[in-house]
Amino acid sequence: MNDFDYKYICDMVRNESAIVLGEGKEYLVQARMQALVSREKLGSIDDLVSGLRKDPSGALSRKVVHAMTTNETSFFRDSHPFESLRKHVIPEIMDRKSGQRKINIWCAAASTGQEPFSIMMIIHEYFPELLNWDLYFLATDLSTDVLDRARDGLYNQFEVNRGLPASMLVKYFSKDGNGWRINSDIRDRIDFREMNLVQRWPAIPRFDLIFIRNVLIYFDMETKLGILRKIKSHLDPATGYVAFGAAESVLNVTDHFSRVTFDRSTYYRNAA
Ligand SMILES: C[S@@+](CC[C@H](N)C(=O)[O-])C[C@H]1O[C@@H](n2cnc3c(N)ncnc32)[C@H](O)[C@@H]1O
Repeated sequence: MNDFDYKYICDMVRNESAIVLGEGKEYLVQARMQALVSREKLGSIDDLVSGLRKDPSGALSRKVVHAMTTNETSFFRDSHPFESLRKHVIPEIMDRKSGQRKINIWCAAASTGQEPFSIMMIIHEYFPELLNWDLYFLATDLSTDVLDRARDGLYNQFEVNRGLPASMLVKYFSKDGNGWRINSDIRDRIDFREMNLVQRWPAIPRFDLIFIRNVLIYFDMETKLGILRKIKSHLDPATGYVAFGAAESVLNVTDHFSRVTFDRSTYYRNAA
């Protein structure tokens, strides 16, 4: 891949998704573009870039952006935030919302669904009364490919072996061919929608709980700050909790949030 093609793809990915592909990512970009060229039967990366130049905002450019996202995820990833969710966060939100019996949850950058399904399994397992509340659960991602997989809810043996307790596998999934499919009563409670965090946000409500984990790391500081400001304005000021990824320390970049530490995990609330 020549330098011009590399720069063109990096700039396009940055404009469309804010994902920064800095120095030293040539190998990664080359490998992912080569795979895309084969899938799309395009001949070469040169042909791919010529196609992009002709139609910079067409379907091919979306495929390039999707191909450059990192979709790494797993059930109950990092375990501690989910323990705190069960022990502290959900009980506190329920306490504060017991009058209204309404709760809004958003999993931004939900990838292939393991994260929102983990939260939903906690609700089914420990807070079944919430299912009789007015519960709205939104799960979004930039990539339609991962959202299609999440909506399908089918996971292979390797994926269910990563982080999912056997008791939950048996209770909330059924065997489907060589894989396991999440039960429809879990899946159907979640509204999976395409949403690019760096473009205009659709009309969404205020949330009591926002999981936005392992996505801000891909953005530059200015983009991060813009998203954090919007997250703050979509967080219920009285009840809202946000979870970021383990490597994403928000206190370094904003004073919009205050930190709440539970056992071995950290959540954030709107700062006063
Ligand atoms: C590493 S995964 C994190 C998945 C999950 N939150 C977790 O922590 O396991 C990052 C996800 O962010 C999504 N993403 C990247 N840029 C995005 C953007 N600008 N808007 C929305 N989602 C984006 C990717 O498609 C990918 O599915």
